Amino acid sequence: MAHITVTPNQHPKAKPQDESKLGFGQLFTDHMFLHEYDEGVGWHDARIVPYGPIQMDPSCAALHYGQTIFEGLKCYRRADKGLQLFRAGDNFARMARSAARMGMAAPDVDTWMDGLKQLIDLDQDWVPTRDGTSLYIRPAMIAMDAKLGVHTAQKYLFFIILSPVGAYYPGGLAPNDIYVEDAYVRAVRGGIGEAKTGGNYAASILAGIKAEELGFAQVLWLDGVEQTYVEEVGAMNIFFVYGDTLRTPRLNGSILPGITRDSVLKLAARMGLQAVEERMAVDTVLKDIASGAITEAFGAGTAAVISPVKAFSFKGTTYTVGNGGIGTVSQRLYDTLTGIQYGRAPDPFSWITKLS
Ligand code: PLP
Ligand code: COI
Repeated sequence: MAHITVTPNQHPKAKPQDESKLGFGQLFTDHMFLHEYDEGVGWHDARIVPYGPIQMDPSCAALHYGQTIFEGLKCYRRADKGLQLFRAGDNFARMARSAARMGMAAPDVDTWMDGLKQLIDLDQDWVPTRDGTSLYIRPAMIAMDAKLGVHTAQKYLFFIILSPVGAYYPGGLAPNDIYVEDAYVRAVRGGIGEAKTGGNYAASILAGIKAEELGFAQVLWLDGVEQTYVEEVGAMNIFFVYGDTLRTPRLNGSILPGITRDSVLKLAARMGLQAVEERMAVDTVLKDIASGAITEAFGAGTAAVISPVKAFSFKGTTYTVGNGGIGTVSQRLYDTLTGIQYGRAPDPFSWITKLS
C-alpha cells in the first residue's frame, strides 16, 4: 500500500443548506484522490488534493478511444452520525474486472481503499444526514497516453471524486415508466456490456433522449443479438416479481453484474422468496404483466436503490405492472437493503465497513 500525501483545500466551498434539493451528482466535495500509472514504474504519486480540473493533452487516448472505467458506490450516515461504506470491496473487485476487459493496468486496490477512507475522513462534513441521502463515490480510471495510435495505454490516471446525493430519480421511490427499446442496443455478445466503461453509456444516450421525449424515465434494453431477451435498464438491473418468486435476467456477458442485484438475490433467499436467474424473453414478460402473473417489477442499482416500475411501453402498447403502485415485495426489499446500508438493521452478510 502506497503512502498518500495530503494537500488540504484552503478554500473550502459552502456546504448545501437544503438537503432535499441535492439531486444526483451535481455537487462535489472539497478534495479528490489521484493516483498515476506509468508502464515500467507502476502506480505512483498517490495524493489527496483540492477538488478541481485535471490537465489532459488534446491527444489523450481516453478522449478519443474511450479507454475508461468507473465505479459507483456510497457512504451512508447512520442515525448515530457515524459513517459506513456498503460492499466497497466488491466495487473495487468489479473495477479490476473492468480494467482487465478494457486492457488497462491492474488496479492498486489496497491503496485506493486507503485513499477512499482518508478522502472521506477529510470531507466527512459533506456526508448528508437527511433520510435517503448519501455520499456518492465515483472512482474512475482513464488512459492518459498523448498518442493517436489505437493501443493499450502506458499511462493511466485513477481518481476518486465524492458527491452528496439525494434520490437518483426526481420522484424518489415513486414508480417510473420505462420504454422498452426495440431499435438501438446497448451491448452485444462478446462486447463490453459487463464492464463499467464509458462506451456502454455513450451507446445509451440517443435512446435515452428518445425515451425522455416520449415521457419515460429510462430505457429497458433487450439483448443486442436477437433483440428478444430482457437485459437491464440504463443505470440499474431489472427484477420481476411473480408472487413470492423473484426473476431477473441471468448474467450473460452483456449485462452489468450489479452489486445491488447480487444483494437483492442474497436478501431474497433470507426473506423467504425464491430467486431465479434466467434468460427472459420480453414477449413472455409482457404477457405475464398483462395476465397479472407478474405482480411487481423494480430496478436495482447503487444510485437508483430499489426503483419500482409503474409500466413498460413496447411498440406503442403500455403494460402497467400490478396496480402501478409500489409493491409489497419492492417495499420490503427497499426497507431491508436501506436498513443495512444506513445501519438500522443487522448486517448478516458483512457488507458494511464502518468508517466512524
Ligand atoms: N446496470 C447498469 C448499466 C448500471 O450503470 C448500474 C449502476 O451501477 C447497474 C446496472 C447497477 O449496478 P450496481 O448495483 O453495482 O450499482
Ligand atoms: C450507479 O448506480 O452507481 C451508477 O453508476 C449509475 C450511473 C451511471 C449514474
